[in-house]
Amino acid sequence: MALKRLPNDVQSLLSASAHVNNFKRAIEELIYNSLDAESTSIAIRIHIEESSIQVIDNGCGIAKHDFNLIGQRHVTSKIDNIGALQAAPKNYGFRGEFLANIITISQMVKITSRHLGTEDTWAKTFCDGKEKKFAKMTTRPSNGTTVSVYSKVEI
Ligand SMILES: Nc1ncnc2c1ncn2[C@@H]1O[C@H](COP(=O)(O)OP(=O)(O)OP(=O)(O)O)[C@@H](O)[C@H]1O
Ligand SMILES: [Mg+2]
Repeated sequence: MALKRLPNDVQSLLSASAHVNNFKRAIEELIYNSLDAESTSIAIRIHIEESSIQVIDNGCGIAKHDFNLIGQRHVTSKIDNIGALQAAPKNYGFRGEFLANIITISQMVKITSRHLGTEDTWAKTFCDGKEKKFAKMTTRPSNGTTVSVYSKVEI
């Protein structure tokens, strides 16, 4: 059989689904992100009928300007050089891959956040791997982040 290079969209889907292939893994990674954001309270909601999960935290939140890059591959706030990597990062995650992966394989991902010390709450929605909407939301009572993931398959 002749060799063919897989198209970019197939490459990303295969690589994303190899890293995150079930809800348990997704919930675990979302909790890691909440812990890295220094949350002291984390709620997990599983909607069976909607095939969706939601992780809500009271961590530091995401600044409005950081929403420009959120969800893109190799985007992280946790390390920024080889030295930091060699020094054994103190975070649960630092590869800047999870959100990009879950966005690639999900029907819809919505990230809502109010950054520490700010009044406004912002939300970015991704559908079928693509950025769809960035808008101000009804303000949360305090800082923190909510990530909602709507699956393409039934839970
Ligand atoms: N719950 C959250 N609260 C605050 N910031 C968050 C939250 N979730 C994600 N982020 C921000 O988004 C970035 C990307 O998250 P993502 O999980 O994709 O990568 P990571 O945690 O840096 O590394 P890894 O891919 O190993 O999990 C994080 O580095 C962090 O800055
Ligand atoms: Mg992470």
